[in-house]
Amino acid sequence: MEKLVINGGVPLKGEVFISGSKNASLPAMAATLLTDEPCVLKNVPVVSDINTMSNLLMTLGKDVKRDKDALIITSKGRLKPLADYRLVSTMRGSVCVLGPLLARLGEARVALPGGCVIGVRPVDLHLKGFESLGARIDIEGGYIIAKSSRLKGARMYLAGAMGPSVLGTANVMMAATLATGETTIEGAACEPEIKDLADLLNLMGAKISGHGSPTVVIEGVKRLHGVEYKVSADRIEAGTFILLSAMTRGNVIVRGVEHHRLLSVVDALNEAGVACECRGASVRVKSPARFKPVNVTTHPYPGFPTDLQAQYMAMMTLADGVSSVRDTVFPDRFMHLAELARMGAKVRREGGVAVIEGVKELKGAPVMASDLRASVALVMAGVVAKGQTEVRRIYHLDRGYEGIDRKLIDLGAKVRREQDKVVPNEEIG
Ligand code: UD1
Repeated sequence: MEKLVINGGVPLKGEVFISGSKNASLPAMAATLLTDEPCVLKNVPVVSDINTMSNLLMTLGKDVKRDKDALIITSKGRLKPLADYRLVSTMRGSVCVLGPLLARLGEARVALPGGCVIGVRPVDLHLKGFESLGARIDIEGGYIIAKSSRLKGARMYLAGAMGPSVLGTANVMMAATLATGETTIEGAACEPEIKDLADLLNLMGAKISGHGSPTVVIEGVKRLHGVEYKVSADRIEAGTFILLSAMTRGNVIVRGVEHHRLLSVVDALNEAGVACECRGASVRVKSPARFKPVNVTTHPYPGFPTDLQAQYMAMMTLADGVSSVRDTVFPDRFMHLAELARMGAKVRREGGVAVIEGVKELKGAPVMASDLRASVALVMAGVVAKGQTEVRRIYHLDRGYEGIDRKLIDLGAKVRREQDKVVPNEEIG
């Protein structure tokens, strides 16, 4: 296992280039199962979740080769309907192979991904969508078994108690591209990654409209074909570096940002007294001596993203006053609170709300990463803290941030990656 050792307190300066979006790449890779023709996906980040999806595609009958930032995905025979538990359990995103497999083969057996540290994370909405398209769904031995001789277009409402589902919308939308007739998804997720996926599918020959809005209409077609496609920049990585730059009061230009996809974050920063200069695909922030405290509630897009909540909280630990964070998408996503507290942050949970009393400085400490976005929040705290921070279990970080240590070092941060000889306890009795 590896850890990051950070000697904090150095203001960051320079430029950082944002990689391709992990969350857009994963469903795009699953979409290649909808055709036997070769597909080339460009701007795919080098992160471990992409390796997991590549391995899964290879077990399903695809060949995946990397050429710099591109993945070349070809067929190596007949598709197989079985997505094994060992691969699905390490990454929930792999559940979105179910829609394409069902549409192509009339059958799919995909392991139920289970919960994870950020919440229960059910897949009932995915299954409801497939049932609406005429599939029979059974759960056996921890596997979802979906069957249908030919999917049939339908009108459905796909949002649940927690709002729309991003991967649920992606999964059902992919299946509906090859169904007979027209499918209408009401309550569809509006996240940019859904818009990107529909654009990709349309380039492959699908007929999708309304994507990016809560009503998506898919007119089924007989077959899809190969494609060459460039994945968008990662809005969450961009938001992370923008928040980090604000937090360190450095002079950083974040390049390759689609800032219109981050308006809720820019808005929260403005309220905190941070000026964001958005020019073309670049963002530079200018921070005051201390931020104003600002309460944030996460919502589905275009609301403040749950995937930037931990990073925002790290920044608010240094605000001049008390702020709060409520996560309506994953209400229990607060694993980072206790670790931030180890660094001197004054944070506590009051019911569904995290309350953050700003302090003048954070102090370095050994801390433990619990999930992808919580890990990066700890790294951010380490970069501004006085003294040395060790962030352990950084395999979480490597799931979704391409070369984060190299990017931080290029900005002047004192960061090094080391083997962690002390293996932290997984269990607390
Ligand atoms: C995706 C993102 C993740 C992000 C999340 C919300 C990927 C690979 N992951 O996850 O980074 O944090 O969107 O923006 O793109 N829900 C149900 N039933 C379902 C599905 C979801 O109740 O069938 C609930 C979830 O528990 C959660 C909410 O709906 O409370 C939103 O989850 P969802 O949008 O599905 O998240 P993912 O697509 O898994």
